[in-house]
Amino acid sequence: MRKLIVLLCFSLLYACAKEEKTNLLDEELLATIEKVISENGGQSLILPKETDLTNIPQDPKNPLTPEKVSLGKLLFHETGIALAPTKNFQEGTFSCASCHFASAGFQAGRFQGIGDGGIGFGKNGEGRIKDALYHGDELDVQPIRSPSTMNTAYQKNMLWNGQFGATGKNVGTEQAWTPETPKAINSLGFEGLETQAIAGLGVHRMVMDSTFIHTTAYKEFFDAAFPEVSTEERYTIKNAGLAIAAYERILLSNQAPFQEWLRGDSKALNEQEKKGALLFFGKAKCGNCHNTPALSSMEFYALGMSDLIDCPEPTFKTSLENPQNLGRGGFTGKTEDHYLFKVPQLYNLKDSPFYGHGASFRTIRQVVEYINQAIPENERMDKNQLAPDFKPLNLTAIEITQITAFLEHGLYDNNLKRYEPTQLPSGNCFPNNDRMSQRQLGCN
Ligand code: HEC
Ligand code: HEC
Repeated sequence: MRKLIVLLCFSLLYACAKEEKTNLLDEELLATIEKVISENGGQSLILPKETDLTNIPQDPKNPLTPEKVSLGKLLFHETGIALAPTKNFQEGTFSCASCHFASAGFQAGRFQGIGDGGIGFGKNGEGRIKDALYHGDELDVQPIRSPSTMNTAYQKNMLWNGQFGATGKNVGTEQAWTPETPKAINSLGFEGLETQAIAGLGVHRMVMDSTFIHTTAYKEFFDAAFPEVSTEERYTIKNAGLAIAAYERILLSNQAPFQEWLRGDSKALNEQEKKGALLFFGKAKCGNCHNTPALSSMEFYALGMSDLIDCPEPTFKTSLENPQNLGRGGFTGKTEDHYLFKVPQLYNLKDSPFYGHGASFRTIRQVVEYINQAIPENERMDKNQLAPDFKPLNLTAIEITQITAFLEHGLYDNNLKRYEPTQLPSGNCFPNNDRMSQRQLGCN
C-alpha cells in the first residue's frame, strides 16, 4: 500500500512538472507572437468560423451573404460552365477546382495545373495529363504554380505578382491595367478576389450560358444571391465572379491544430510543434513576413526561388520570356520590383507537395532548409533584389525538424471536404468531368 502511495505521489508530481513545462512553453509562445505580430498577439492570428460572415474580411463592393457563398461554391466546382474549350470535345470537363480542389489544400496536386486540354485526375490531381489531341499551346495552363484559393480573404491583391485588385498595393498601378487584357478588369474597382474571379472565368474558358442557367437550379441560386440586380443583368460573368469570390473568402483553415491552440486548447499542439512555432515567430523570423491569420502577408519579396521552366518535369507554355518570372516587376514594369513574389499562406501545404512559385521544392523541410541556408537557387535573378531577411539563420537540424512539424501538422486542417458541394446542379462529375477523371473520381 505504502509503495502504491509513493508511486502515485511520484506520478502526480511528474504530471504536474510536465504540465508546468507546457504552460511555460505556451506562455513563451504567446509572448513571442505578441512581440512580432501586434498588441493582440495570438488573438490577431485567429481565423473566424466560415459561417461568421461579418468577421471575414470582405470587399465593401461585394458584401458576403450566405446566398452568394452557396452559389459560388457550386460555380467554383461546376464543370457544366466549361463551355469555351479550344476543342469541342472538351466541353463540360473542367472547372476552377481542376486546379484548386479541397483535398489538395485548394491547389492543383500537381507542379502545374491543367484546365482545358487536360484529362485525368489520378489519386489527388497528380495524374492529370495533356489530352493527346491538344497541342501544348492550346492548353489552359499558366507558367507558374497554382497557389491555394484558401485563406485568400487576407490579401487584397491576387496572383503571385499581385496584379488583380483595384485597391491595396495596386493603387497607383493603373498604367499597368492594360486594356483588352484580364488586368483591365481592375477598372471595375473591386478587390483582388472579386477581380480575379471575374477575369478568371474568361481566362479559364467558362461561360454563363442562359440555357444552362435557366434549365438548372442555377437560376434560383442567382435569384437568391442577387435579388437587387435586374433580371437582365443578373446571370452574368460579373455576378458569377462575385459569388465565387464570396465563396473563396469563407475557405478558412480554422480547424487546424494551431488555430485550436490559439483559441486556448493547449494540447492541440505537441511540444515539438510548439517549439517549432516559437522558432517560426522568434529566432527564424518567419513571422516577419508570414504574419496574417493565414500566415501570408500583402508584401512582395525575393527569396531567389526558381521558376517553373526550371522544373524537372515537363511543363507547358513556360519560357525564359514569361513576365511571370519577374514576379511583381512583370506587372508593374519597375526594376525595383523584379523577382519579388507575394508572401503566400502556409496552411495545408502538404496536400499538394510542390513549393515555391516555380514548384522547385518537393517537401516542406526542403523549403525550411533553403531559407535557413539562404543561398538563392535561381541563377538568373539579380541578387541585389534578395530580401534583407534572406540571410543564413544557423538553425540546427533539430530546430529545422521542429519548424517543419509546426508547418506540416500545426498548420493542417484535416476537414477541408466541408467546403466541397456534395453534388452539382448539372449532375456532372467534379473537379473534372472527362472520361478518365470520371473513372478515377468514382463518378458513374
Ligand atoms: C489551369 C489551372 C487553373 C484553373 C482552371 C484555375 N486556376 Fe486559379 N490559379 C492558377 C494559377 C497557375 C494561379 C497563379 C497564377 C499567377 O500567379 O500568375 C492561380 C491563381 C488563382 C488565385 C490567386 C491566389 C493567390 O494567392 O493569389 C485565385 C483566387 C484563383 N486562382 C481562383 C480561380 C478561380 C475562381 C478559377 C475559376 C474561374 C480558377 N482559379 C481556375 C491555376 C488555375
Ligand atoms: C522576407 C520575407 C520572408 C521570410 C522572412 C520568410 N518567408 Fe516564407 N516566403 C516568402 C515569400 C515571398 C515566399 C514565396 C517565394 C517564391 O515562391 O518565390 C515564401 C514562401 C514560403 C513557403 C512556400 C509556400 C508555397 O506555397 O510555396 C514556405 C513553406 C515558407 N515560405 C515558409 C517560411 C518559413 C518556415 C520561414 C522562416 C524560416 C519563412 N518562410 C520566412 C517570404 C518570407
